[in-house]
Amino acid sequence: MIIAIDGPAGSGKSSTAREVARRLGFLHIDSGAFYRALTYALLSDGVPEDAWEGLRPEDLDRFRIAGERDGGRLTIRVGSEAVADELRTPDVNARVSHVARIPAVRTWLLGRLHDLASATDVVIDGRDIGTAVFPDAGLKIFLEADPEVRARRRLAEQGVSDPDDEALLEEVGRLRARDRLDSEREVAPLRKAGDAVRVDTTALTFDEQIEAILELARARA
Ligand code: CDP
Repeated sequence: MIIAIDGPAGSGKSSTAREVARRLGFLHIDSGAFYRALTYALLSDGVPEDAWEGLRPEDLDRFRIAGERDGGRLTIRVGSEAVADELRTPDVNARVSHVARIPAVRTWLLGRLHDLASATDVVIDGRDIGTAVFPDAGLKIFLEADPEVRARRRLAEQGVSDPDDEALLEEVGRLRARDRLDSEREVAPLRKAGDAVRVDTTALTFDEQIEAILELARARA
């Protein structure tokens, strides 16, 4: 079974997908982590930003980006380096949506995601999973929350638990800018699949949102 969880930046897709996968004994695939790993590799390698647009799928193979299954999780590697925190820096945050809109990048990742999900049950989160990557997924969730709540959660993740108004507004601005790029791009834009179930987590606790999705998964299974 494939459970697809899509939604805007900071809606909690990855943490939700990880916990739903853990509870069901499925593999969790965070598709955004691959776009982040590629962005990190391009930056580390010093590839000039004005050359990114012209990259071809075969150019991307040389970064040797791979997801290695470790129980129910994937370790993302760039060459021999396992990357995690490196993927969530402000530099990567600011550029990842520019990388993700390049058609060659999306083609390159599509095959990898299909391979990873070919032999196992998965919960996979992203922007286009229910619309483009796995349009036949058994359950599709579109996770949403108010921008201010998303900004608070994102800041809390970075250790800022009581942000002032200015910090909050800045974070809302960053999330909105990324959502705009993701929604307006030509290839596989962020949008709710017609048959996805909308789950608004603005007023839900983490446990409540996990339960809501597990219930939908049980009903489908
Ligand atoms: O965790 P957060 O919502 O901040 O983002 P993410 O899921 O790590 O994804 C980072 C970026 O990768 C997004 O803003 C998109 O530009 C891109 N992405 C995408 O285009 N398609 C996906 N399936 C997943 C991510």
